Amino acid sequence: IAPLRLLGEQRELVIGAAVNANTLRSDPEYAIVLGREFNGITPENAMKWTALEPVPGEFDRSGADALIEFARQHDQQVYGHTLVWHRQVPRWAHDAVTAHQTGAMLREHIHAQVSYFRGDVWAWDVANEVFDDDGSLRDSFWLRRMGPEYIEDSFRWAREADPEAALFINDFGIEGINAKSDALYAWVTDALERGVPIDGIGFQVHWTLAPLPGSFADNMTRFADLGLDVAITEMDVRIPTPATEQSLAEQAEIFDQALTACRTVAACRSFTVWGVSDAHSWVPHAYPEQGSATLFDGGYRPKPAYQSLVEALRRP
Ligand code: G3I
Repeated sequence: IAPLRLLGEQRELVIGAAVNANTLRSDPEYAIVLGREFNGITPENAMKWTALEPVPGEFDRSGADALIEFARQHDQQVYGHTLVWHRQVPRWAHDAVTAHQTGAMLREHIHAQVSYFRGDVWAWDVANEVFDDDGSLRDSFWLRRMGPEYIEDSFRWAREADPEAALFINDFGIEGINAKSDALYAWVTDALERGVPIDGIGFQVHWTLAPLPGSFADNMTRFADLGLDVAITEMDVRIPTPATEQSLAEQAEIFDQALTACRTVAACRSFTVWGVSDAHSWVPHAYPEQGSATLFDGGYRPKPAYQSLVEALRRP
């Protein structure tokens, strides 16, 4: 079968994987599968603030640089992840006390990183997971210190530093039409009217064997109708381990549904799986007795989910 990325290219779709810089360095097979099957890379951790600036003013971009170099050699697009989030912020950053100090620090972070990576990333997750399930803004260090403006300020600062990169707001639990996606929709509509430079919505799709919401494609479409791009940014489907023939088949079905939904929306630019293989997925660390969430098993053999994406891409 043709590698996934070739089929993606024929559909003008980025087919990405979240990549761990340490694993890429240490596991040759990981690198082979990544280069062969994917035309997109999202750094799983290497572009998060803790990784980039462990000590104030001392930057460590070695992991991110290695991923960008790999992507260059393999003709892959890099999706930057992520500029403002409530997790993986270094300890020292919490020393900022006033709104002014915090805003200056966040502006400096965004300007420094976005200008450094300018030209190497096609898109950024500017704001990650800023809503709660009930539709309110998530209680976070940023919200407490700076108020709700921190989100739109972050988009403006990112645009200042890279006028070309597509700027995304990314979240989980917004796949269907629900309280959270309604709140995001209202927020984005208002922000766009006020000229906030937002270009796209990232749908994470960390999923289980429960069916995907039937409204997924319609939901993406309503955002696309605002003139935005949409993307599936972090998909995985966790299943109880050990996986069975039955659970792998159900998993394949869910991957197919998500990619098919993306394909029905012209503005859907990319489809990214959160991990290259089951050997290096975050899932078993976070959910005991679950795993097998990606397209390749621990021995890098393609799973039924892989085949289902091939078929979803081949369909006219
Ligand atoms: O930093 C230490 C490192 O020094 C040490 O060598 C290593 C050994 O275990 O642990 C290290 O940090 C871990 C880091 O991943 C790097 O491997 C953290 O403990 C661990 O919490 C962290 O997990 C990441 C998680 O985000 C953090 O919230 C996962 O790899 C990553 O897959 C996950 O990704 C998130 C997206 O960014 C946002 N959406 C949800 C998604 C899944 O949770």
